[in-house]
Amino acid sequence: VPELTAVLAMEAEAATRVLPPGLRRRLGSLARFDPDLVLEDFTDGRAAGILSEAEILITGWGCPLVDDRVLTLAPSLRAIFHTAGTVKSHLSAAVWERGIVVSSAARANAVPVAQFTVGATLLAGKRAFGLSRWYATGEHKSRAGSLHLGNEDRTVGIVGASLIGRLVMDDLRERGFRLLVADPYLDPAEAEILGARLVGLDDLVTGSDVVTLHAPALPETRHLMDGRRIALMRDGAVLINTARGTLIDTGALVDHCATGRIDAVLDVTDPTPLPLGHPLFALPNVFLTPHIAGAQGREQQRLGAFAVDEIERWACGEPLHGRVSAADLPRIA
Ligand SMILES: NC(=O)c1ccc[n+]([C@@H]2O[C@H](COP(=O)([O-])OP(=O)(O)OC[C@H]3O[C@@H](n4cnc5c(N)ncnc54)[C@H](O)[C@@H]3O)[C@@H](O)[C@H]2O)c1
Repeated sequence: VPELTAVLAMEAEAATRVLPPGLRRRLGSLARFDPDLVLEDFTDGRAAGILSEAEILITGWGCPLVDDRVLTLAPSLRAIFHTAGTVKSHLSAAVWERGIVVSSAARANAVPVAQFTVGATLLAGKRAFGLSRWYATGEHKSRAGSLHLGNEDRTVGIVGASLIGRLVMDDLRERGFRLLVADPYLDPAEAEILGARLVGLDDLVTGSDVVTLHAPALPETRHLMDGRRIALMRDGAVLINTARGTLIDTGALVDHCATGRIDAVLDVTDPTPLPLGHPLFALPNVFLTPHIAGAQGREQQRLGAFAVDEIERWACGEPLHGRVSAADLPRIA
């Protein structure tokens, strides 16, 4: 019988997606937990009883705030394993103050986002998104001839050497793209190891055929792509955003895309979801998806598997792969 005691806290529906039966069995070999009890609310009458024993909290989408009151109910709590990305919205300062170990599955969620970005980069290089819409109106022949199609001899600018940004660089480097990277936390030597040249954001924007955003939403990244920077983009360049909508000044983007000078691929917008009838929907050179780049459907068990692997590492005293510390918070997603 495992010695550790764990509790699940998230939306019950999220728990079924991130922790299917096979993973629950594995978890059951590492920690004692009630597979039928998923706390959606810490004021749930059953919460006080099960939290009083818990050493591990396994959180996920829809987890209520873990605050002082919850920590008082859980005096034995030593670690929180999150089966999704950001931990900022559900962990209060008290968690960090008490020195509770925190792990996030953001590294696992980064994989599908990076795949989406690479796919978008390759298709955008062929102008596939716009040409698909122009095909339907019969304009594709005149359009295709005037565009510099293809993925040869291309430079991609990665904004943010984040978990996702690094996976994107790993993939595109292998495909022979030239890479520029802008990130205030990166040094040139580290960029070189990633196969990219570290430049300022303006130089990245002027020097790239594709600009792809992978920085977190922070006060200093709000409208990082404002009208002035969007105007610096090369003719025919593509702006990809799988990060957060607020990184782009949407009004300025609409203006620049409407002239047809640049294209955009946007998985996130400001606001997300985009209201029906928004001008971006009408632009043939803007390809929009409804925030699907992160783990969806069958990809979601990857997040639970990451958390269970982390619990195993933690139980064995091995270093965690998704450890988050309070000092990281001001610069991470
Ligand atoms: N579309 C989706 O479904 C989806 C899914 C997951 C994450 N995201 C978003 O993707 C982005 C990247 O996520 P992540 O988990 O890779 O992030 P992360 O937490 O790994 O990013 C942190 C890193 O970003 C870099 N950074 C910080 N400030 C920067 C700045 N001003 N300019 C450039 N770089 C900066 C630093 O290297 C920092 O270490 C975030 O905006 C996140 O919210 C979207």
